[in-house]
Amino acid sequence: MACNVSNGRLPSPECVQTLIEETHEKFRTVNEGANADYIPALAGAPTELFGICLTETSGVVHEVGDTNTPFSIQSVSKPFVFALICQAIGEDAAREKLGANSTGLPFNSVLAIERSKDGTTNPMVNAGAIAAASLAPGGSAEEKWAFLRDGLSRFAGRTLELDLTVYESEMATNQRNQGIASLLGSYQKMYWDPAEATDIYTRQCSLNVTARDLSIMAATLANGGVNPVTGESVVDAIHCQHVLAVMVTAGLYENSGDWLYATGLPGKSGVSGGMITVAPGKGGLATFSSPLDEAGNSVRGQLTARHLSERLGLNLF
Ligand code: DON
Repeated sequence: MACNVSNGRLPSPECVQTLIEETHEKFRTVNEGANADYIPALAGAPTELFGICLTETSGVVHEVGDTNTPFSIQSVSKPFVFALICQAIGEDAAREKLGANSTGLPFNSVLAIERSKDGTTNPMVNAGAIAAASLAPGGSAEEKWAFLRDGLSRFAGRTLELDLTVYESEMATNQRNQGIASLLGSYQKMYWDPAEATDIYTRQCSLNVTARDLSIMAATLANGGVNPVTGESVVDAIHCQHVLAVMVTAGLYENSGDWLYATGLPGKSGVSGGMITVAPGKGGLATFSSPLDEAGNSVRGQLTARHLSERLGLNLF
């Protein structure tokens, strides 16, 4: 099939579907990487599961493979929570309280806080993300959690449910995140009780999604904050621009430069194997495959994003 990508638009829906099916076949048998094991509930996830979903800003959804398998969203929640916080407190306050610079360090780095000028990092790494969760509107932890869960659900276009097994597993092993939240307090960069903020962040990471959900969420960022499937305006377009900026600077942590070099697009990974790539004005790509590289990014997810960025002409540069 002739796929014309030279006019700055996505090729025909048939062509996009064929391309994602070919891409799935190409990387299905890649056998590199390993499941995250520092959260015990993630260690045993089936490594052969692999789904690719691309949602166009028109609302057309293309899927292949395991796109309806639930998994915990983990760090892929971070851009959407940041979007909700920007909407709630304004983008200038969000940048001043959370930071926007690249850390060049792993997602759970304590050093990233110590090395920054004022304790701010980036909302795509744990320190900035826990601080972001602490900024959710509400007078109690329950109200803050309800705000975040509702907002994340609106990005997905359906009510997202907590995976209790993952939540409890992570709560039993998240001493490092608790330490990060307390340290942020010493810089006046924690905006709620640190233990409760870590709990809210852990719940946010334990929400179950599918690759299809993530693709619709990513497409909402590509579409100026309007969910292209439900038609709901979740956040203002201006906030999507700031979210995409912090995804570029730290979406793939210390490998964010390599990622940008390879895809030319904002991306975000999660430790359970989910990954999103946003092509502004065109669509949102999501993948699910649990084996990760050393930096905690899905191996098949990265291969897919690079390949499709090239084949669909998505690179922003
Ligand atoms: O904070 C954590 O450790 C996890 N809930 C999320 C980390 C994560 O997804 C890192 N991503 N690749």
